Amino acid sequence: MSNKKILVLPGDGIGNEVMHEVLNIIDWLSKTRSMSFDISERLVGGTAYDKEGDSISDETMQEALDSDAVLFGAVGGPKWDDVEREKRPEAALLRLRKELDLFANLRPAVVFDALADSSPLKLNIVKGLDILILRELTSGVYFGQPRGISKVNDSEEKAIDTQSYTTSEVSRITRVAFDLARLRNNKVTSVEKSNVMETGMFWKKIVSHLHQNEFQDVELNHMLADNCAMQLVRNPKQFDVILTDNLFGDLLSDIAAMLTGSLGMLPSASLGPLSENGSRSAMYEPVHGSAPDIAGEGKANPLAMIMSFAMMLKYSFNMIEDSNLIEKAVQSVLSLGLRTSDISDGANKVVSTQDMGKAVIEELKKLTGN
Ligand code: IPM
Ligand code: MG
Repeated sequence: MSNKKILVLPGDGIGNEVMHEVLNIIDWLSKTRSMSFDISERLVGGTAYDKEGDSISDETMQEALDSDAVLFGAVGGPKWDDVEREKRPEAALLRLRKELDLFANLRPAVVFDALADSSPLKLNIVKGLDILILRELTSGVYFGQPRGISKVNDSEEKAIDTQSYTTSEVSRITRVAFDLARLRNNKVTSVEKSNVMETGMFWKKIVSHLHQNEFQDVELNHMLADNCAMQLVRNPKQFDVILTDNLFGDLLSDIAAMLTGSLGMLPSASLGPLSENGSRSAMYEPVHGSAPDIAGEGKANPLAMIMSFAMMLKYSFNMIEDSNLIEKAVQSVLSLGLRTSDISDGANKVVSTQDMGKAVIEELKKLTGN
């Protein structure tokens, strides 16, 4: 069997530091767990703009298309605030999503017992929380046409974004939601604004139809997006899988992330359609950004990046055992009281990015006896 090809795109800011820790783990895994990957590394984001003139070059894009999975760090920073929109660091992310057809974005929000105190919400509201936001990622207002700014008359301009969805776009993400719910607590909450928007009514109709025809065993609720934002703060444990569109998913996943109190802990997966041979394009990235304010200081939390890699093992390579092993190792270092500064409550030992990465490998060694 040929090696799996992973394209590593560390990006900007802390992306590099946290990726470094994952590469050490991959190194350790290939020595001890007889798995081998072909890893190639390229520039993306502002760093790519500076060196290659665009936030993602055509060569890098091609390499992403040729890989089995992409591991992505983070992009952006104030340095590139004035760059034109098509070449901004974020444009690389949107291009990867669109060209790899990564329509299904899985954003789990899990509260680890050892960290339940770091949430700004009361302990009883978040303890044991384990929900999944499933965000449609390749359509909606992020990509809808027409868009742009045009002149109305000498003193007026007009800006337009378009929210649009087709039947197949809504159906395919809905299927993923029901499939995932069946592996979890069997409950889907579909979120839109059907009280105001055409796309909301359309979304609700398609989700209901599919539920009726193929997924009656899964519990389905519909919720308006504004209410969902409120419910996420009031009683987040009522949810299992939240299914929503691109823009609402962007907003709701930030709320869900904050429930855990530790943005530095949250991984994500973006998946393409399943092909006939069972493979799918995929990209894995931490939910946190490039944090330019702490870049290069060894303060970043590498755990979200490490757990994004664990998601890659699970969803792209079906290496469930190794994926679970990494998650266990992460839980162990947290139980030992190790904290990077973002998740420290003052009482714990604050460690650097590198030390946190090393500690995960030490736990992996203990767990495997290697
Ligand atoms: C996210 C981010 C991106 C988005 C930005 C960086 C383009 O906020 O992944 O949630 O809006 O999708
Ligand atoms: Mg966002």
